[in-house]
Amino acid sequence: MNRLSLNDDDKRVRQWFVEQVKACGCTVKVDQMGNIFATRSGSNNSLPPIAMGSHLDTQPAGGRYDGIVGVLSALEALRTLQDHRVETYAPIAVVNWTNEEGARFPPAMLASGVWGGAFTLEHGHSRTDASGKTVKSELARIGFLGDTGCSCDANPLSAHFEVHIEQGPALEAEGLRVGVVTGVQSMNWYNVVLRGREQHCGTTPMHMRADTLLCAAKMIQAINAQALSLPGSLASVAVINSTPQSINTLAGRVQFNIDARASSNELLVQLEERLEAACRDIASKDGVQIELWDRIWQCPKTAFDDTAVEMVRQSVRKVEGGKFKEMISGAGHDSVYTARKVPTAMIFIRCKGGISHNPVEFSTQEDIQAGANVLLGAVLRYDEY
Ligand code: GLV
Ligand code: MN
Ligand code: MN
Ligand code: MN
Repeated sequence: MNRLSLNDDDKRVRQWFVEQVKACGCTVKVDQMGNIFATRSGSNNSLPPIAMGSHLDTQPAGGRYDGIVGVLSALEALRTLQDHRVETYAPIAVVNWTNEEGARFPPAMLASGVWGGAFTLEHGHSRTDASGKTVKSELARIGFLGDTGCSCDANPLSAHFEVHIEQGPALEAEGLRVGVVTGVQSMNWYNVVLRGREQHCGTTPMHMRADTLLCAAKMIQAINAQALSLPGSLASVAVINSTPQSINTLAGRVQFNIDARASSNELLVQLEERLEAACRDIASKDGVQIELWDRIWQCPKTAFDDTAVEMVRQSVRKVEGGKFKEMISGAGHDSVYTARKVPTAMIFIRCKGGISHNPVEFSTQEDIQAGANVLLGAVLRYDEY
């Protein structure tokens, strides 16, 4: 899958999604960030809808489950309500959040972040991809720049429940299908630019260089070592760009990004301090300047709502007996930002080998069915509550 946010395939899956929910009798609202809210009436439509949401966008070489499983599980839950002519008290909504991945338009969870008040609409609209196209212009191009306000005040929800593949190995290792997610770890992204000197590779003696690519290589090693030395933390470099991209000219400029995460906010602060100190030390030894060290995204640890989690717990007990695990998510999800405004909880589904952000990503139909049943049960319990 290469359904990067707001590309032509994202447009097609959005159009398909809108057709499906309209066929279920839902009303559809698209907000100013392109989030799609499909609502099925309840008996008391003055209440904000109880939402089931996730995302339809993918990584550039993504799999067939990350994101879309949550939207399709929600759609199936909605169809089940239709098939059985169930009248809920509150209305029920299925939500597709725009640009969860942040792969094309950093940061991740951008549009749920605007809805949840973490970012301004202006910030959301002005994010750019590598070619300089903005979120706003791409929303307009694919026909999903809506006019509903993108905020919890303009477009309220009562609660948010999200099904997602685990993206890690824990459920499989314990022979469990489903996990009850109680929170999400702390996450930061950084943008780093190194400035050295472009020089001839053949004539510049090895000790007379300010080689930013070599310096970045040492930094990447150090970033990995620092996270390894701080249990509960992770740090990764997956994007690097060197200039001027010539085989016989030393790279005078390097830009790279760091993804850093930790089990607590305090640990992430400690990790950040260690990463920056290690990189500054390497730069000064190499005669390279750190031109930019910018924390471009900060997302503190999230604890989901006790009541919403309890509804998921009760539902999973019914669907899976006692066979489930309570867990913290290593990945970010739209539920992180909905949790800032409304009771939120998540359901994880086992995935093969814990692999995601990869075309081999896989979950069985039976496991997805279990997750979708847990979702529907949680929503119905919340509706009664
Ligand atoms: C967000 O999707 C993340 O965990 O990177
Ligand atoms: Mn996802
Ligand atoms: Mn993802
Ligand atoms: Mn994610």
